[in-house]
Amino acid sequence: MSHYFSAEPEASTQRRDIAFTIAGREFSLVTTGGVFSADRLDPGTAVLLRKADLPGADAAGPFLDLGCGYGPIASVLATVAPRATVYAVDVNARARELAAENAARTGAAGRIRVAAPDEVPDEVRFAQIWSNPPIRVGKTELHAMLDRWLPRLAPGGIAWLVVARHLGGDSLQKWITERGWPVARQASQKGYRVLKVG
Ligand SMILES: C[S@@+](CC[C@H](N)C(=O)[O-])C[C@H]1O[C@@H](n2cnc3c(N)ncnc32)[C@H](O)[C@@H]1O
Repeated sequence: MSHYFSAEPEASTQRRDIAFTIAGREFSLVTTGGVFSADRLDPGTAVLLRKADLPGADAAGPFLDLGCGYGPIASVLATVAPRATVYAVDVNARARELAAENAARTGAAGRIRVAAPDEVPDEVRFAQIWSNPPIRVGKTELHAMLDRWLPRLAPGGIAWLVVARHLGGDSLQKWITERGWPVARQASQKGYRVLKVG
């Protein structure tokens, strides 16, 4: 069965534009079938981008958009922090193609580095990690993903995560705490928890 988190999803490739406004800036990004939330900015992602503290204009990064999908988070980060490098990482090849196209649309093609997880250079440490993580892959894979990337925060770095409460936002917060990370609930809106890790 093909899912949005498959490596090579089979769903239709019909293209559409979706528009949204974050931090007073308008974005118009392209999506297709076979990627997460292809019809609109996901409401959880919207809560994350509106409630977490976006980087300042002088921030240099590097930032990680973990599970980037078609790239809305990477596009916003690269726009509000025009000097920063943003790694946009996803297992889904179609998502990576769209994230690269959307990086060009937002004028940040040179600073958004779209990559499969294994393509990110080992030495890179992130000032911030942003993620609307793939809860539906199951706890084992979700936890493995966080165990892989959270240790790659630079000293003093912060991870911002959004999780729907009914999909286990509170239990994920508990698990992250048990892994030894300081974690706080930054905001709770429309059934989503925004977690600040680090
Ligand atoms: C909930 S979606 C969020 C997509 C996008 N950030 C957004 O806000 O629309 C999670 C994404 O994580 C990706 N994903 C699943 N497993 C992953 C893994 N092990 N490493 C990186 N990305 C993964 C999925 O393909 C999917 O695009």
